[in-house]
Amino acid sequence: MKKVFTTKSTYETELLGQKLGRVLRRGDVVAYFGGLGVGKTAFTRGLAEGMGIVADVSSPTFAIVNVYHGSPMLCHFDMYRIDGWDDLCTTGYFEYLEDDAVLAVEWSENIENVLPENSFFINITKGETDEVRIIEIEGDERLENIGA
Ligand SMILES: Nc1ncnc2c1ncn2[C@@H]1O[C@H](COP(=O)(O)OP(=O)(O)OP(=O)(O)O)[C@@H](O)[C@H]1O
Ligand SMILES: [Mg+2]
Repeated sequence: MKKVFTTKSTYETELLGQKLGRVLRRGDVVAYFGGLGVGKTAFTRGLAEGMGIVADVSSPTFAIVNVYHGSPMLCHFDMYRIDGWDDLCTTGYFEYLEDDAVLAVEWSENIENVLPENSFFINITKGETDEVRIIEIEGDERLENIGA
């Protein structure tokens, strides 16, 4: 199923992430699509909170992946600079995928052909004003539990 949300602040995006975080299970992949600065990292901050992880979630731009311990653990990827198969393998993506973690993947555009079919697909676009974001989430029936 698919749901579309509109957020009007960074905080509202974090709250939405938090709601999704609460229903995630080990093995889930959250795949973000959307341009620079749309709020993928902000959403992931909420995701971690919803999963009960207390941490300062920041952009994994330099490390490519930040791992937050929890049950399950959260692996937060930034695929912005990932180009090709070898590059992707060095990030540990496939190992983490097998590892019963939750994966949150920024710039999923760059690894689209290796995303599991049952991922949560999140497309974020900017709205009419600076603080507005349109957030489209595609996923399974758990989305029913995520209110507007
Ligand atoms: N409704 C909103 N939701 C999320 N972020 C918002 C919103 N309105 C304004 N912002 C701002 O947009 C920026 C989003 O930054 P963030 O790092 O989360 O984006 P990103 O998509 O991860 O960027 P990057 O492509 O660089 O990884 C922040 O400065 C945030 O405060
Ligand atoms: Mg980011």
